[in-house]
Amino acid sequence: TLALFNEVQLPRPEQMLDSYPHQLSGGQKQRVMIAMAISCQPNILIADEPTTALDVTVQKTILQLLKKLQLERQMSMMFITHDLGVMAEIADRVLVMYKGKIVEQGTVQEIFANPKHPYTKGLLACRPPLDRKLRALPTIKDFMEVDNSGNLVEAKKSVAEVIRELEMPAGNLEIRKEKLYTQNPVLQVQNLQTYFPVRKGIFGKVTGYVKAVDDVSFDVFPGEVLGLVGESGCGKTTLGRSILRLIEPTSGNIIFDGTDIRALGNGDLRRMRKNMQIIFQDPYSSLNPRMTIGSAILEPMQVHRLHENDKSRKAKVLELLDRVGLPSKVYNRYPHEFSGGQRQRVSIARALAVEPKFIICDESVSALDVSVQAQVLNLLNELRDELGLTYIFISHDLGVVKFMSDRMVVMNAGKIEEMGNAEEIYFNPKNEYTRKLIDAIPKGEIIHI
Ligand SMILES: Nc1ncnc2c1ncn2[C@@H]1O[C@H](COP(=O)(O)OP(=O)(O)O)[C@@H](O)[C@H]1O
Ligand SMILES: [Mg+2]
Repeated sequence: TLALFNEVQLPRPEQMLDSYPHQLSGGQKQRVMIAMAISCQPNILIADEPTTALDVTVQKTILQLLKKLQLERQMSMMFITHDLGVMAEIADRVLVMYKGKIVEQGTVQEIFANPKHPYTKGLLACRPPLDRKLRALPTIKDFMEVDNSGNLVEAKKSVAEVIRELEMPAGNLEIRKEKLYTQNPVLQVQNLQTYFPVRKGIFGKVTGYVKAVDDVSFDVFPGEVLGLVGESGCGKTTLGRSILRLIEPTSGNIIFDGTDIRALGNGDLRRMRKNMQIIFQDPYSSLNPRMTIGSAILEPMQVHRLHENDKSRKAKVLELLDRVGLPSKVYNRYPHEFSGGQRQRVSIARALAVEPKFIICDESVSALDVSVQAQVLNLLNELRDELGLTYIFISHDLGVVKFMSDRMVVMNAGKIEEMGNAEEIYFNPKNEYTRKLIDAIPKGEIIHI
């Protein structure tokens, strides 16, 4: 076992033998799984989304490890992933599966350079591009249609045409930024700190603090999308929740629309939350499984006494469902009857129910695959423009954050590493940490293979 632990490059292998799973990081757990899998000298290793839950930097090291083991041991590997960037880095040959069928296969070069099936074309195109700015992301629908007899037919337009039409017109970005930054900020976060006490035993004395948010300051302007990116555990969720005081900050100021949020009593805080909503990562746990979709969206309207009565509230819910692209018949259904993307739409409708000005999206698309992700991101952008919303958009995925954001904040170990224009940071990072984060993104482009 020690030899295997060494082979998968676990740190302190002797100590690891006596460790429990919860004491290991995500990357270390994955290394242990790989050690288990190769322990009986397999000829073929099946890896099912082995890096999906990991950060890009950790993902990169795990991919390198798998590749190394595969070459040294001359074993075959079947690598399953929804991430095309990862696919490009690891695979020799690719099979594309759609609705239970293999619709296309070929070498990585063939698939990426010259995809034939419209579904493959769509998948490749609906990832947020890193090298250019689009108004909206293409979705699978742009590349294929289903005809009357249920067959897939390729749409008339080529990928290049679709992308060209979605490109941000020259000058639009400058006009938008000029408008944004001549206003007063709607939110000011000043020297915010949120520390979690570390205790010995359950009731034991405090032996130290986790500085989850450590002296963070920034402004957000009305109508702006401020991206917040960083590896998992860097404090993004704690920061988002501290702003709403769902977690009580240790010190600092939060000024929203001229009001000092930290000075509010419970009643005023509740009223303030009508204006500031949060959409969580996991729509499973944020929706009550025993409440129908309709009641889940109606409830916050009741709490905040919006609209005259339940009849007019129900009408409003139906309007919201329509707005997020769900049919009215879902009103009486329960969360488990929906796919991840649909549930995320429900969460968005629920946040919109109280007509907020400001929404914090915490990893709101991280659990979705690229084609559904593109649809939800487009929806968030449409709502921003239509309803004049302001977002803090949190994600560990720099490509997604760059697509969504006007400015972005790069966070590391509770502190801000770098902050500024999203494009500028991506193309010209000033900071070592940011550069590392950008380098670790699987680009999925032919030149990098
Ligand atoms: N309730 C808590 N008690 C103690 N430590 C916490 C708590 N919540 C988060 N942390 C710690 O704070 C740090 C930041 O966590 P989090 O804000 O969830 O990061 P992110 O959202 O960037 O992944 C981590 O080290 C995490 O372990
Ligand atoms: Mg988080």
